[in-house]
Amino acid sequence: MKCEIKHSAIAGVGSYVPENVLTNFALEKMLDTSDEWICSRSGIRERRLSAADEATSDLALKASVRALANAGVSPEEVDLIIVATNTPDMLFPATACLVQDGLGAKNAGAFDLLAGCTGFIYAMAVADQFIAAGTARTVLVAGSETLTKVLNWQDRSTCVLFGDGAGAVVMKQAPEDRGILAVKLGSDGSGGKLLQLPAGGSRMPASAQTVAEGMHFLQMNGREVFKFAVRAMEDGAGEVLRRAGLTLADVDFLVPHQANIRIIEHAAKKMNLPMERVAVNVDRYGNTSTASVPIALEEALAAGKIKDGDHVIMVGFGAGLTWAGLLIKWYNFSQ
Ligand code: COA
Repeated sequence: MKCEIKHSAIAGVGSYVPENVLTNFALEKMLDTSDEWICSRSGIRERRLSAADEATSDLALKASVRALANAGVSPEEVDLIIVATNTPDMLFPATACLVQDGLGAKNAGAFDLLAGCTGFIYAMAVADQFIAAGTARTVLVAGSETLTKVLNWQDRSTCVLFGDGAGAVVMKQAPEDRGILAVKLGSDGSGGKLLQLPAGGSRMPASAQTVAEGMHFLQMNGREVFKFAVRAMEDGAGEVLRRAGLTLADVDFLVPHQANIRIIEHAAKKMNLPMERVAVNVDRYGNTSTASVPIALEEALAAGKIKDGDHVIMVGFGAGLTWAGLLIKWYNFSQ
């Protein structure tokens, strides 16, 4: 008997960004920086800041409620919740469990996934495996971050780049030739020190000294990460096309991780894609890490830029180092 493996597709999407906007002009008053420098080097104009009492699970919950409503799925129907985040509410319990409780998704398993800014694409790949294996029918995947809480606001080389937000998708089995066609997951732990938050784990437990030395803040070698990112985007996109037996000419739309407009434009150029077929929101939200791809996806869908049957590539990179590509033949569940 032939065993048909059925892959998954996105049945609903939702996002949430905090209300508080921090513009480059406001940053000019806080730091030795300028709107001109930030725009020309990164494409970022403003970002969102979570409130003091707003944690990652709060953002994830709001995005998840919207994604479930968009998919027409009740919390009880969810079999599994995966939250990709680098800024969990706390070391444990998992942020996904807090979202599970907030939703009342009483039939769901829940866990977090940590893969830097690539976490959301990794989590979609994991969800796809659960659905393909028949272990889960409905999976909620969220990417949620409150990175502005772990930034050193005196370090102009990092604090201007990141923002807070959340995005979520509901994944279900896709019909026949639709859904996720190929995934590429990459990692290179030798580059871990290029982007890290050193303290608070078992290697360097929190102490008065780690706090005094600022070891609980994000640290990044931007120049090296930039070089890696350009290679990673090319590899992620190229590899999923190769695995699916498709070519660049088959790509209809690109949803890249939103870290820097120069990295996005480079990827688009390499893929011969005009920018109208590339999701961009780094100008308004900065780098929201795991949230950037689902937020950008929701905006592209709302703008009617992705149609049934389109080949859509998601591609990302981040701390780890990690990178990933994911190719979907879009299926419109509401048709
Ligand atoms: N405002 C003004 N000047 C700044 C600044 C800021 N916010 N941040 C850095 N500078 C200065 C630097 O001090 C440096 O000055 P120097 O030449 O006198 O030493 C100069 O600008 C150039 O710095 P450099 O790091 O070479 O700039 P860049 O063109 O590489 O751009 C990044 C910096 C961070 C925007 C870029 O490297 C980048 O985007 N890297 C990838 C980061 C990323 O994607 N991270 C997320 C991964 S998920």
